[in-house]
Amino acid sequence: MTITFRKLHPTFVAEASAVDLRQVHDAETLEAIRRGMDEFAVLVFRDQPFTDEEQMAFARRFDGVLHEKTGAAALGRSRLGTEAIADISNVAPDGELFAPDDRRRAYALGNRLWHTDASFEDPSGRYSMLSARVVPPVRTETEFADARTAYEALDDATRTSIETLRVHHSIAYSRETLGFEFSAEERAKLPGAVQPLVRTNPRTGRRALYLASHAAHVVDWPLPEGRLLLRELIDHVTEPSFVYAHVWRPNDLVIWDNLATMHRGRPFDDATHRREMRRVTTLDLPHAIETA
Ligand SMILES: [Fe+2]
Repeated sequence: MTITFRKLHPTFVAEASAVDLRQVHDAETLEAIRRGMDEFAVLVFRDQPFTDEEQMAFARRFDGVLHEKTGAAALGRSRLGTEAIADISNVAPDGELFAPDDRRRAYALGNRLWHTDASFEDPSGRYSMLSARVVPPVRTETEFADARTAYEALDDATRTSIETLRVHHSIAYSRETLGFEFSAEERAKLPGAVQPLVRTNPRTGRRALYLASHAAHVVDWPLPEGRLLLRELIDHVTEPSFVYAHVWRPNDLVIWDNLATMHRGRPFDDATHRREMRRVTTLDLPHAIETA
């Protein structure tokens, strides 16, 4: 099957031609989609009516192993019964919308900060695939920032000065910046992980800045200098020229490369409107799959 991509932004993001990903099993088409990810870092697929099982199965075909520690597990069991699929919804287990003061809603609000999925775990998250199951009649958006072009736009001296830096990523840190409080027991499950500040796509060799809200401090640097550097770089990556806003339609599937982008959910009237999304994230294991 031939898939083509239509660019949606000058430097990244494309929409794929019509395809039913549930039916994509052949190595050639899967590799064509991986090449699309190499080039665009974010791909939009319309009209993908996935069940949870079908979405997980596609993600395994695409990139091997699913990440089961993307954060919310520390708060207790998901209503979906597996940690391999994340419930990105404003719906409680009883089917009602979250109350404004619900602790799970407060936790989910952290997704409105620029972030990369599971950067606070080792291995981190690689590809995330977010499926829109129920989309409200009001505009709802997720924004993406191009961390590759932003890296390439830095001057040589800056690129050299940050090349070998390492950063501690912690979801406890990022959630606490919004006033969310973890119990000691929850915190113990979320120690964080150290990641390079500059990461390289193992398939293409292209580099990108790897940071955002979970980035808590620069290893071996004094706290204030490290945090100032991280803020400056996050501000740089999220300059408007590097940002694309995806407007959700029902049955959209958006795949993004967490090593090449940052993203954030945008606000909507979530006390009135139901929105149900499912996200699967693959483990960053470059050799988990055989690539052509
Ligand atoms: Fe996310």
